Amino acid sequence: MSDAGMGITNALTSVLRGARGVTVLTGSGVSAESGVPTFRDAQTGLWARYEPQELATPEAFERDPRLVWEWYQWRRDLVRQAEPNPGHRALVEFERRVPTFLLATQNVDGLHRRAGSENVLELHGNIMRSKCSVEGVEAEPRTGDESVPPPCPGCGAFLRPDVVWFGEALPEDVFAAASEAARNCDVFLSVGTSSLVYPAASLPSEAARSGAMLVEVNPDDTPLTPHADYTLRGRAGEVLPVLVDALRTP
Ligand code: OAD
Repeated sequence: MSDAGMGITNALTSVLRGARGVTVLTGSGVSAESGVPTFRDAQTGLWARYEPQELATPEAFERDPRLVWEWYQWRRDLVRQAEPNPGHRALVEFERRVPTFLLATQNVDGLHRRAGSENVLELHGNIMRSKCSVEGVEAEPRTGDESVPPPCPGCGAFLRPDVVWFGEALPEDVFAAASEAARNCDVFLSVGTSSLVYPAASLPSEAARSGAMLVEVNPDDTPLTPHADYTLRGRAGEVLPVLVDALRTP
């Protein structure tokens, strides 16, 4: 597909070239090409009969901590086997080419940092970290402790993944920083997210209200699409490298 076919026009590239501040929101679509299933993808194998929405909740953990912990162990293995893809790498180059750049991700897989992105806010936490389910402090199992879930070395309560579950608040300081970056950018890119889950999904409109140009990268329409100034129809791993290329060519 050509640049124009993706919706990458000269007007867009000239705005991007002149941008002082770019803020990006990513969702699981960015990691899809790394083999990490999106939330809307059907789950596979043993987990096919469960919806993520029924496992990623405090109530599910309360009801069956073993099941929820094992689901996250399965997802951690998927993430360990995954590698950053050209979409992640294009965002690293984007960050190097823009004076002020912030990447707010809803993804918990850590692939942006593994690709080399530096100014990253993990709005929904990180699946590779654990925390105490009672004290809330970051904690890892004692070496060799195979219990499921393992106990917090500090207080003995169950450990849980250090991620935001449905119905839980995002870390206030993290979201405040993302919100400030949305209000203070020239261009806001929304990449690989269904724009359905708040408060992350409020960031693009916050940026637009402050005068930013809205660009969406997604193979499909989302509730954000009608509000975007530019809709780049395609996969992140295809579109983002072309977008960054356009920044390179004089
Ligand atoms: P979703 O699964 O809701 O949406 C994935 C989006 O990525 C969809 O809009 C797809 O069209 C798009 N997509 C798929 N493949 C893509 C590709 N190769 N390149 C670009 N886009 C692609 O995932 P999220 O929007 O990330 O929250 O979900 C947001 C939040 O909902 C998650 O962080 C999670 C979930 O509830 C919590 O766990 C708190």
